[in-house]
Amino acid sequence: MTLRGFFAGSALALASFGTAAADNLTLYCAAEEAWCQQIKTDFEAKTGITVDMTRKSSGETYAQVRAEASNPKGDVWWGGTGDPHLQAAEEDLTEAYESPNRGELQDWAIKQAAAADNKTIGVYSGALGFGYNKDLLAQNSLPEPKCWADLTKPEYKGHIQMANPNSSGTAYTMLATMVQLMGEDKGFEYLKALHKNINQYTKSGSAPIKAAGLGETTIGIVFMHDAVAQSAAGFPIVTICPCEGTGFEIGSMSLIKGARNPEAARQFYDWALTAEMQSKAKDAKSFQLPSNKNAAVSGLTPDLSTIKLIDYDFEKYGSSDERKRLLKKWDEEVSTLPQ
Ligand code: F6P
Repeated sequence: MTLRGFFAGSALALASFGTAAADNLTLYCAAEEAWCQQIKTDFEAKTGITVDMTRKSSGETYAQVRAEASNPKGDVWWGGTGDPHLQAAEEDLTEAYESPNRGELQDWAIKQAAAADNKTIGVYSGALGFGYNKDLLAQNSLPEPKCWADLTKPEYKGHIQMANPNSSGTAYTMLATMVQLMGEDKGFEYLKALHKNINQYTKSGSAPIKAAGLGETTIGIVFMHDAVAQSAAGFPIVTICPCEGTGFEIGSMSLIKGARNPEAARQFYDWALTAEMQSKAKDAKSFQLPSNKNAAVSGLTPDLSTIKLIDYDFEKYGSSDERKRLLKKWDEEVSTLPQ
């Protein structure tokens, strides 16, 4: 049966699943709230399956899946940075699955699956950077920051916001990027120097650039697509691709092990890899690069081929030991320092 035929009549689809369990799906969504809501609505309309959706940041979702492992409540974990998905795969919290639609995906999405024995897969990608509020920058007579190195200069003290890497996948990507870009010792020296300029560590990764849009901070360290979303919404935000080069994410999706609604979960998973589903990201003002080769890409999506990307080692930085070690080190050596 083709995918189109499969979804064509919800009555038929439900009959073929045969159980009431397929009428419900519990979705843990770790991308932007607007996109998560759109996904819930579209999947419900397409299948008749009722979706109970919760939006949390990547690290928080990982922690929830882990805490619920003996009695799983979620069925699918969609979105959020790939590192905690890889960690969950290694810890056997997620289920291996090979979707019939994986042939339509970019190599980087498949590589993510291969690194995790098919217990996760890439759904989008995006590069890390920062953005600034151009009005606030001018009001404070600050020079334009262009490089990671600029952000540790004393003139930016109190002007920069980023998320906490424990809760946020964005901020963990930043931490792992600095370690890979500079080496671990210099990377941590950098994070300590940056700490002096940070006015707040937020829970969610995109919060700093939303705060910048509202004039609550001058600079936010975020994925570039989240900064672009703020300027697209009319806020005075300029997106910067750091001059030294930068890290990136492979936003991922995983099926939760022991899910109560495994059929509905696989149906969602297959749909989430389609060009049709991924092409609608831009309608929710989400500007990541889709993993389906045939998905429409917004003109506002940062062009990753023009960005100096590091060779981010997802297997290493998504491994359980490494992620735990780096977060502990950041907690002990960076977050506790006086500002
Ligand atoms: O806002 C979207 C997004 O940046 C995704 O691209 C990313 O996977 C996710 O948010 C990370 O969110 P957080 O840093 O809150 O875990």
